[in-house]
Amino acid sequence: MSYEIRTWPDKILKKKMKEVDFFDDKLKELVDIMFKRMYELEGVGLAANQIGIPYQILVLDTNTKKYDGQEGEEGVKMALVNPKIVEKSGEVESTEGCLSFPGVQITIPRAERVKVIAQDLEGKEIEIDTDGFLAIVLQHEIDHLNGIPFINYLSPVKRKLVLEKYMKSLKEMARA
Ligand code: CO
Repeated sequence: MSYEIRTWPDKILKKKMKEVDFFDDKLKELVDIMFKRMYELEGVGLAANQIGIPYQILVLDTNTKKYDGQEGEEGVKMALVNPKIVEKSGEVESTEGCLSFPGVQITIPRAERVKVIAQDLEGKEIEIDTDGFLAIVLQHEIDHLNGIPFINYLSPVKRKLVLEKYMKSLKEMARA
C-alpha cells in the first residue's frame, strides 16, 4: 500500500470508518505510518481514511510553528483510536484547510469546546476536554472518520461555488 493522500471526491472520504478492535503491533504500525505521512504532508492532523486506512484512527500535532511560523501553542501530539465527540459547547468561526482539498481554505462554524472520548494504543479509555485550536483539529479529524468533509458546514450556495472552483483547479493541476 502506498498511503498516498486521498483527495476529494475519493469515496473513502465519504464513509464512516470501521471501529478498531485490535490493540496490537498492527495498530502501532498504522499509527507510525500516519504520523510519518502527516509530517511529510505538513498537516496538523490526519485521519486514517485520508491515506486509505479504513479505521477510526487519527493523529495530530498542534505544534504548527514547525510548518508555517504561525503563532502557535507549544503543541500537543497524540494518536486517538475510536474517538467520539460526546459534548460540544459554544460556537466559533474557524478558518481551515484540509490535505484532502488542496488549495481550499474556508471559514466555518465550529464548537468552541469539545469533550472527546477515545482509546489509546493499548485500548485504555481516555477523555479530552478542551477548547482553542486543539478542539478545532479534533472536530475536523473526527468528522473525517465519520465521512463528513469540512465543506458540509458551508451553505449550499457557497459549497457549490467552492467545489466548482476546486474541481476546476484539480483539472488544471492534472493538465500541468
Ligand atoms: Co481534513
